Amino acid sequence: MELAILGGTGDIGEGLAVRYAADTDHRVVIGSRKAEKAVDRAGDYEERLADHGIDRDIEGAANADAAAGADVVVLAIPPHHVADTVADLAEEGVLDDQLVVSPAVGMQGDADGLHYRPPKVGSVTELVAERAPDGLAVAGAFHNLAADRLANLDADLDVDTLVVADDESVRQQVIDLANELDGIRALAAGPLSNAAEVESVTPLVINVARYNEDMHDVGVTFH
Ligand SMILES: NC(=O)c1ccc[n+]([C@@H]2O[C@H](COP(=O)([O-])OP(=O)(O)OC[C@H]3O[C@@H](n4cnc5c(N)ncnc54)[C@H](OP(=O)(O)O)[C@@H]3O)[C@@H](O)[C@H]2O)c1
Repeated sequence: MELAILGGTGDIGEGLAVRYAADTDHRVVIGSRKAEKAVDRAGDYEERLADHGIDRDIEGAANADAAAGADVVVLAIPPHHVADTVADLAEEGVLDDQLVVSPAVGMQGDADGLHYRPPKVGSVTELVAERAPDGLAVAGAFHNLAADRLANLDADLDVDTLVVADDESVRQQVIDLANELDGIRALAAGPLSNAAEVESVTPLVINVARYNEDMHDVGVTFH
């Protein structure tokens, strides 16, 4: 399977790229607005994997090229730009039968901490679905993971991620995909209309990390 991580040059993109390269046999391609930047970053990730004794290729490409050849497209792009990126890719005819996964969360910070700020449609995940071509499979996942911990291959993970999608088989595909990462357990959280509840956990997790010692890069687990 080919996994394209658009915005894979950034924080959560890096974490997902190195973990999928380390833990699975999937072809991993990171996308960027600039192909050259993606190729450079992919080389950096390969070097870090090699430092851990893992010989894996990660490819870099412009976002549209990365998405065009992929089976699954993860949108590791800031929340205010992710919907426009999807709309642009749709207009270019790049998105037709991929499964698109959004980890994006709208948040605003002040002196006290981070606060959930969803778009009018209810959640960023639903906004992505609204801007995607009709019939494209859209899911939300990976919202509550800490990028630094994911990218640190010396760190063991023991966290849950919540998956939302309208179609149960799409939800299950993303659950299976997330479960392929060592130390991540994926749980179903229902259809896209439940995405706001999932996204809103992210600022909570970050605030808990800020206000408690030894909680850096904390995640959520359900018992
Ligand atoms: N950081 C976390 O711990 C974390 C955890 C869970 C979910 N998330 C979500 O994942 C998404 C990415 O977060 P991040 O922290 O990885 O973000 P980030 O590092 O700030 O940005 C990721 C990438 O987005 C691309 N980008 C920036 N501006 C853009 C624009 N105007 N249009 C298209 N692409 C643009 C950049 O890639 P190029 O310059 O190479 O194009 C950048 O490397 C966010 O929506 C966030 O809510 C983050």
